[in-house]
Amino acid sequence: MKFTLVQKDTKSKARAGEMTTDHGTIQTPIFMPVGTVASVKGVHQRELTDEINPDIILGNTYHLYLRPGTSILQQAGGLHKFMGWERPILTDSGGYQVYSLSDNRKIKEEGVKFKSHIDGSHHVFTPENVMEIQRTIGADIIMAFDECTPYPCDYNYAKRSMHMTHRWLDRCMAHLEKLPYTYDYTQTFFPIVQGSTYKDLRKQSAEYIASVGAEGNAIGGLSVGEPAEEMYEMAELVCDILPEDKPRYLMGVGTPINILENIALGVDMFDCVMPTRNARNGMLFTAHGTINIKNKKWENDFSPIDEMGITFVDTEYSKAYLRHLFAANEYLGKQIATIHNLGFYLWLVRTARERILAGDFLEWKNQMVQQMDKRL
Ligand code: GUN
Repeated sequence: MKFTLVQKDTKSKARAGEMTTDHGTIQTPIFMPVGTVASVKGVHQRELTDEINPDIILGNTYHLYLRPGTSILQQAGGLHKFMGWERPILTDSGGYQVYSLSDNRKIKEEGVKFKSHIDGSHHVFTPENVMEIQRTIGADIIMAFDECTPYPCDYNYAKRSMHMTHRWLDRCMAHLEKLPYTYDYTQTFFPIVQGSTYKDLRKQSAEYIASVGAEGNAIGGLSVGEPAEEMYEMAELVCDILPEDKPRYLMGVGTPINILENIALGVDMFDCVMPTRNARNGMLFTAHGTINIKNKKWENDFSPIDEMGITFVDTEYSKAYLRHLFAANEYLGKQIATIHNLGFYLWLVRTARERILAGDFLEWKNQMVQQMDKRL
């Protein structure tokens, strides 16, 4: 992978960059739609490409390992071919889902024993087998196996966990050296900074992660319930330590406002279930605030879903129609809302990039943050 820093903002720490993988180029800042089980829920690959147009999407090792399993993915020739998506993919390592989804998990130095949330079967994830699984899934960017600490987290637990994540990182890298690529393209490995909300631990973790010299770096353990100000403080501290010439990925973040604030602190990549999950619950993100489309106030509002018209659904359908689809519990309601929200998130990061290149990102960001902080 090659990363080029195209422009640094002079009034904030925002950056515009370009990453090149064997499946194509990613312009940063970027938002990666979440396609947990080889599907961005409710959106066809063709709509995803033609309407939403993200340079990269995300998949999850935990889910793909449990179902369909690595044997099917290998027989398919990897995740890209299996799901009919030719652009870049990043897989998370399971270092988050194994804690949030599985039952009866036991974390030890060797790895994590857990029970599948699907059928209760027993499994073990270790830094080594998670690297093997990610080789077989075949994403362009693969993540280190880590422990994402909960919030709040007591200091001693956070410290012990961070050191274990660092030892697991050493094991991931030692094992990857012995594992050839499964398919005819390369994969890039990102380690993950932890350290909960403790400044000294975040500093120590960022320094360790920077020292291993990976091609890109991630910040984990945030957006787990801490106040936004604390998230920004940790993200800024870590970004200031991570190398400038490598992409920085803030995992699991966040609202449109969180994304703009973190871009201003030097983050380049984001993923979050919020635009897709909230869409399925009738929540729409717009440049002027959020809409709960199930609300009675939209019952006879025949204006377009979003005057901005970022995707075709925004101007083709009215708020009253979308509200009706939700009231009638029609699949199409969730599909339309998902296309709208993902279209908006991708517009937001593309516009952030344009503003960074034009030199007026900070003014635009401040105005957008103010105007998006409303319920319509
Ligand atoms: N997704 C959101 N946060 C995290 C994290 O801390 N680790 C991993 N692996 N994935 C995440």
